[in-house]
Amino acid sequence: MEKKALTLTRFKKMKQDRVPITVVTAYDYPSARLAEEAGVDAILVGDSLGNVVLGYESTVPVTIDDMVYHTRAVTRGATNTFIVTDMPFATYHGSLDVTLKHAARIMQEGLANAVKMEGGAEIAEAVQGLVRAGIPVMAHVGLTPQSINQIGGYRVQGKSSKQAQKLLEDAKALEQAGAFSIVLELVTDEIAELITDKLAIPTIGIGAGPATDGQVLVFHDLLGYAADIVPKKFVKTYANVGDIIRSGISEYIREVKERSFPTKEHAFHIEQEELQPLYGSVPSK
Ligand code: KIV
Repeated sequence: MEKKALTLTRFKKMKQDRVPITVVTAYDYPSARLAEEAGVDAILVGDSLGNVVLGYESTVPVTIDDMVYHTRAVTRGATNTFIVTDMPFATYHGSLDVTLKHAARIMQEGLANAVKMEGGAEIAEAVQGLVRAGIPVMAHVGLTPQSINQIGGYRVQGKSSKQAQKLLEDAKALEQAGAFSIVLELVTDEIAELITDKLAIPTIGIGAGPATDGQVLVFHDLLGYAADIVPKKFVKTYANVGDIIRSGISEYIREVKERSFPTKEHAFHIEQEELQPLYGSVPSK
């Protein structure tokens, strides 16, 4: 039986039924196809594509055009999976009109099912505005990489009671604003559990321990696909496709250099009688 794509109602029901929600990022047609074929519950077109696909040092340079372009490829690859796309840096902090324009591009041109926005209570009004316009919003608190220049480093959040209290208040404000789910990134296990217990909407963790309602990992980290050289504590690498790809390309280079690829079997041929007029007679070779 074909698996049905998630809906907002089923997202909530999975939390109520304590069924873990699986999310993986994807950025193009093949990664989306593979994630869907593997049976993931939802795909996130994360602005982490700035790091893992475009080679930037952070997600700050990623533009709305980048997000729309990649979302379009992902929605073509995974036609039966719930797709969430990140609103990139500084595209939802001005007027609601401008925020709406950016979110509408993701929904109408990219064909995503929802958008994701980083930040706490300070973006609750923007979240509410989008939800009122019929755009589902996944919130994202804890480590918010778009604010890296302000935070000053990729640090675990929720280590002090003051910080934890703020995280909880932010999460509640975002739920109140209408977010259907919330990502907790690099949050201490205990505080992730507390937030998960206090919210009716599902929490999706990354580096937030096992107590969240779901988990998300970056495609390249999960699969060892040209991911960071220094491993992250919260990542588990389930395959090493980077090694397979590198060895496949090395083998190709070797065979071309040795002239063992391509062979005559890989070539296309012309009929002898078509060849004859070009040479005047059939060549002996
Ligand atoms: O951009 C991204 O991939 C994300 C996940 C790490 C949650 O926001």
